[in-house]
Amino acid sequence: MIMKINNKNNAVLIKRSPFLAGTINTPSDKSISHRCLILGALCIGETKIQNLLSSEDIRATIYALREFGAKIIEDKEKNLVTVHGVGIGGLFQPKKNIYLGNSGTSARLLMGLISSNPVEVEFEGDKSLSTRPMGRVIEPLSEMGLEILNGNSGKLPIRLRGSSLPIPINHKLKVPSAQVKSALMFSALNIKGKSIITEPIRTRDHTERLFKLFGANINIIKNNDGQNIIEIIGEKKLSPQELDIPGDPSSAAFLIVAGLIASKSKLFINNIMLNPTRSLFIDYLIKMGGNIEFKKKYIKCGEEVCDIEVTSSKLKAIKIPKEVAPSLIDEYLILSVAAAYAKGESRFCGLSELRVKESNRFNAIQDLLNQSGVSCREEGDDLLIKSNEIVLGGSNIRTNLDHRVAMAAMILGLNAKNEINIDDISPISTSFPNFEEIYSKIGGVYKYI
Ligand code: S3P
Repeated sequence: MIMKINNKNNAVLIKRSPFLAGTINTPSDKSISHRCLILGALCIGETKIQNLLSSEDIRATIYALREFGAKIIEDKEKNLVTVHGVGIGGLFQPKKNIYLGNSGTSARLLMGLISSNPVEVEFEGDKSLSTRPMGRVIEPLSEMGLEILNGNSGKLPIRLRGSSLPIPINHKLKVPSAQVKSALMFSALNIKGKSIITEPIRTRDHTERLFKLFGANINIIKNNDGQNIIEIIGEKKLSPQELDIPGDPSSAAFLIVAGLIASKSKLFINNIMLNPTRSLFIDYLIKMGGNIEFKKKYIKCGEEVCDIEVTSSKLKAIKIPKEVAPSLIDEYLILSVAAAYAKGESRFCGLSELRVKESNRFNAIQDLLNQSGVSCREEGDDLLIKSNEIVLGGSNIRTNLDHRVAMAAMILGLNAKNEINIDDISPISTSFPNFEEIYSKIGGVYKYI
């Protein structure tokens, strides 16, 4: 069982600390960690995962997979996790409700997983996860045979029964969400016949890449409009793998922006995955004038990975169009911190999905910046951030169980004139457990209050 987050006594005061230096190893990717565990659980045999992310969200997936019968052995010294799977269609009936803490990815992917297995499951989550929309997943899954025993208006807790005779789907995604796409893909693995999923707007493609790696029967083609069509023929046995998880670009993004906005800095940030559906924020930061130099590049887990050097930069405002929003979806908070230190007015377009993340990030960005003396306003689903490169700080920020709000506020405070007060930084452990250690190591100063 994962620990429910205790949000008492986790308030901090961020002090101006504009001189940063050091070498950092990026923590492992959260999206790939979830998927490798689930795929390992669907193999007969041993999948060995080196450098699995050790965070609360990943603990949620491990807990659930153990309930579904997978044997998961963690060797902390070797940083190696071994998964003995139950095979496609082999899920056990869990004995308990599945509590997933803060992890939306666990919830949505696992709903997909169970939908084509005859098991009955009650999914639960923390206060934040229990406000997030699940209808986007359970509705298409119900066309594949998932029975919704208690749908609770699309919010957790939700009770579901997977089907013993699931039906392949031909579905065009209504929301550009990798979680929804992946839920349908995991369901398709145990369905006889061909499931077809069309993705009108490109989202992160880790599930597709890993399905190929584990030997699933998957084929991806483009239609006349250039949209991805994913075809999966189910019931094919998967082959266990040996994997090394690359670093999470969404976590590295906080450190990269720290290096850019500091008055004087030199940071070496290693092990950043460059998957094009994830690393676009680096291109935008370079367009804003960021001094980011690519060093070594290498391959891990079928993904390109690189080491970079970041130094203090004079940033300028940027416009980001809505078409690329899904490829930057986890980075808008930290991009808004970069925009707060950039000269001019930035415009981030088409951010409706930010309203249904771990917290309402569309509002959280406005609150963080406006309270800190940087003008931020909304126009429909766009955010406009106007700055003269000065951040006053002096703000009191509520993180509302959102790890990325906590980290963004800590980075914003690095070069703000006055201290920033954050009510609860404990949610950071959902994705970046050693963030505080790294923050101090490179020169960030804060104290618990
Ligand atoms: C994720 C997809 C994204 C992202 C989340 C992780 C994934 O969500 O925000 O942090 O691992 O598939 P959506 O695909 O729902 O936008």
